[in-house]
Amino acid sequence: MAPEATPQSIETRLFINGEVRAFTIFISKVSTTYQNHGVSMSKLSEATEKDVDQAVAAAKSAQPAWANLTVEQRGSYFKKFAKLIRESNDELATLEAISMGFPKSRYFHAMACAGTFDHYSEAGYDMQGTTSLNTPGFVSMTLRQPYGVVAAIIPWNVPLIMLANKIAPALAVGNTVVLKSSEKAPLTSCKIASLVKEAGFPPGVFNILSGHGHISGAALSSHMEVRALSFTGSTRTGRVIQQAAAQSNLKVIFLELGGKSPVCIFEDADLEVAADDTQHSIQGNSGQTCMATTRVYVQDTVAEKFIGLFKSKFEAVTIGDPLHPGTNHGPQADKVQYDNVLRYIEMGKKEGTLALGGSTVEGDGYFIRPTIFTNTPEDARTMKEEIFGPVVHINTFSTEEEVMEKANNTEYGLYASVYTKDINRALKFAKGLEAGTVGVNCTSPTQGRDMPFGGWKGSGIGREGMPLYTMSNFLEMKTVVVKVGF
Ligand code: NAI
Ligand code: MG
Repeated sequence: MAPEATPQSIETRLFINGEVRAFTIFISKVSTTYQNHGVSMSKLSEATEKDVDQAVAAAKSAQPAWANLTVEQRGSYFKKFAKLIRESNDELATLEAISMGFPKSRYFHAMACAGTFDHYSEAGYDMQGTTSLNTPGFVSMTLRQPYGVVAAIIPWNVPLIMLANKIAPALAVGNTVVLKSSEKAPLTSCKIASLVKEAGFPPGVFNILSGHGHISGAALSSHMEVRALSFTGSTRTGRVIQQAAAQSNLKVIFLELGGKSPVCIFEDADLEVAADDTQHSIQGNSGQTCMATTRVYVQDTVAEKFIGLFKSKFEAVTIGDPLHPGTNHGPQADKVQYDNVLRYIEMGKKEGTLALGGSTVEGDGYFIRPTIFTNTPEDARTMKEEIFGPVVHINTFSTEEEVMEKANNTEYGLYASVYTKDINRALKFAKGLEAGTVGVNCTSPTQGRDMPFGGWKGSGIGREGMPLYTMSNFLEMKTVVVKVGF
């Protein structure tokens, strides 16, 4: 099956100050599916430090006029943009499938992205300061004002969802932005650049760069004119960005990082539902999800039954070409990710018992079968580190105290779940689990649409997702004290 977007028609250039630009330094994109189809990938423009400077300068000069527009005027661009994204859904789905292997049949990112821009098109008025008469002789107030230039660095696993979650709130409250996409999945962001232009955003308001982390990502993190930066990706890179922020201008940073999410399944739970939810959590996007349920703890009395249910559901996937309508399990994003997951699988075979999968699929493509390990010691590396593949560990427990301790024995804290019909136990775990989101009788990717999302401990700093909270992230606060004669 030939890809619908031909290499010649794919946008690969940088988008700075409202214009597309190609530069002389290129990266070759590693793409599984294009290689599978015998088509070699087009080359992409790689942003240099100079390009970053120009994009930030364009954003800086566009910012005062953008902030001076009314909420409705800014929102009108968002509405046009959202409509164009919806109209491009099919093309965006194809680009993501050929870029990082997300199955086209399951693609929802573009619609979610459009929905977010639609929502924020009318949300700007919700951001207000406060006033106070509590200091005699003064009227005091706070003003909420945009930072100026905001940077966003996004990963490759759900690129357009991350793009929308960061860019829409930042722009809605009057900042201008420079986005850097991931070198592993740059094509949808390049396409989005053409839609930014078509929607008529003023030049410089929304700049989009492609390139590697150590060049343009590092330049944005240490840039003196970038006042806030929102990042999603690995904990390792999150640390590097925090250091760069500290060593440059102390820009405010928001970090959405990795996870090693536990689920605690008690004998009184609906095991059928628990098995279905948990395998779905780790199977979706071939395990390449920050909040995926990777550590399953099941009560020993029902372990055998649960593992049987889990196995039968988890292995029933259709692995293959992500462009094919029947596929629900695509390849890992690239060779680096594939090799990394396979390295963990070999490690896991030594640390625990392989109960399902553990192998690749013959032929081309970075395909890995759904894999289960059981009986792995809690302190094993594969129980501690983020694998980012279709690999799950299932261990058993006998008491509440034991499983609470095991679930929390991690440096991560993004998502945790409990399955039980006992309301007291459910709430005890809702309180006791150390994570930014706790699911009761449900697990990731379940989220409250209007609830904040983010990590405890090494899983991050700050929250996004909830409209009011996220817009607030991108606003400075100023106190004004007015001396009055009464
Ligand atoms: P990464 O964290 O290195 O990349 C994410 C983004 O950060 C990309 O846009 C990248 O270009 C940029 N970046 C890399 N180094 C940078 C630097 N020094 N300064 C500024 N930006 C930089 O993650 P990568 O290499 O794509 O994946 C490796 C692992 O990270 C995965 O196996 C997974 O465990 C984890 N990861 C977690 C994600 C999540 O959703 N929490 C998303 C992507 C990766
Ligand atoms: Mg990296």
